[in-house]
Amino acid sequence: MLEIAIIWDWLSFALRWLHVITAIAWIGSSFYFIALDLGLQKKRELPKGVSGEEWQVHGGGFYHIQKYQVAPPDLPTQLTWFKWESYSTWLSGFALMAIMYWSGAELYLIDRNKMDLELWQAILISGGSLAIGWVFYDLLCKSKLGQRPTTLMFLLFILLVLMSWGYDQIFTGRAALLHVGAFTATIMTANVFLIIIPNQKIVVADLKQGKTPDPEFGRIGKLRSTHNNYLTLPVIFLMLSNHYPLAFASEYNWIICSLIFLMGVTIRHYFNTIHARKGHPNWTWALTAIIFIAIMWLSALKPPIGDDTEFSRSLNDEMSAKEVQVVGFDQVHEIIQIRCVACHSQEPTWDRINWAPNAVTLEGEKQILANADRIFLHSVMTTSMPPSNATFMTINERQILMQWYAQLPQAQKWPFRQHHSTQ
Ligand code: HEC
Repeated sequence: MLEIAIIWDWLSFALRWLHVITAIAWIGSSFYFIALDLGLQKKRELPKGVSGEEWQVHGGGFYHIQKYQVAPPDLPTQLTWFKWESYSTWLSGFALMAIMYWSGAELYLIDRNKMDLELWQAILISGGSLAIGWVFYDLLCKSKLGQRPTTLMFLLFILLVLMSWGYDQIFTGRAALLHVGAFTATIMTANVFLIIIPNQKIVVADLKQGKTPDPEFGRIGKLRSTHNNYLTLPVIFLMLSNHYPLAFASEYNWIICSLIFLMGVTIRHYFNTIHARKGHPNWTWALTAIIFIAIMWLSALKPPIGDDTEFSRSLNDEMSAKEVQVVGFDQVHEIIQIRCVACHSQEPTWDRINWAPNAVTLEGEKQILANADRIFLHSVMTTSMPPSNATFMTINERQILMQWYAQLPQAQKWPFRQHHSTQ
């Protein structure tokens, strides 16, 4: 029988599918135009009003593209616009956020250890911050700073760092990174919807009336699309981050989040340079690698299990010195039984969890061992599980799991584990 829960689950999958497809279309066309724009050849004998041209070969034919900056003398009869790629990405993303993080706020959005929010408050902050953030960004761009692109970029970076930190004070780590991504994506789409396209429409209207369009519109469009160019890769990282607890649920997740924006710049800088045929700045890859290693290091720097002294003290309190050496499986089993199995079982008892999440069941020794690495990643190195610490797992319990994992023979850990998960 088609339960509502099943239909809901499929609808959310369909929405995610749509979102990824529209994002591919948007990013694909945007990368195409950036590369095209940078690579335009500026020869002297170009027709009047043409600022550059390029020949391209693709799909069995040759394309001869000429760019009119700001506009051709007469309006062409047929004009293709590029805007729905962006709008549909934002709309599907917004719907997906509402389904995942608003309807599932208790697990995914609200973290009662950080801020004890009512559902409506959490939703208000979630949606409101996107709108207010845009207004703030837009004012920055329209201020005098708009004439100083580099300073503006730096301020934009500071704004993103503050947003990363701020969201992390309020929401679960998972929701924090997602919201920084959603905020950034909102800037990008609003740039298209509220600035670039309306300005383009003014230019078209001017052409229809036989007026010469103001080149200022070209400058504004360029500023906003430069921001979009550098923000694209970080947004994708942030949207994918919810699958990787080391990124979103470790102590320094907001710094990780900030560093991602720098990687967005170093990687794009490489491609922008080669597309402009200005050589190969390979040093950017060294910088990218250094930032990435710093991120990995940060993610493991401070596991959420207290420091060593605290660890041994609490163990000593609980057990005799002899037992400290070995954590028995019974202890682990009991912790998992109390803190995880309400959701991770064949028949979950947790409200609105209708089947074992991600097909992870943790009933009995075989299943627990098969998931040892994942338990370690989600509940020891990070606090991603239990979500929002819904079952009140204690630091002491995380420490015991850590000890247990440390004592497991290599053969039972990735990549040496013999038996893969038994699901
Ligand atoms: C309140 C319900 C709930 C509890 C309690 C819970 N989980 Fe989860 N768990 C989830 C949900 C929901 C997901 C799926 C998250 C997603 O979609 O990314 C999940 C996913 C997982 C995954 C799979 C992640 C992956 O690699 O795809 C692991 C492993 C996991 N949980 C371990 C645990 C452990 C260990 C505990 C106990 C310490 C625990 N969970 C407690 C709800 C719960």
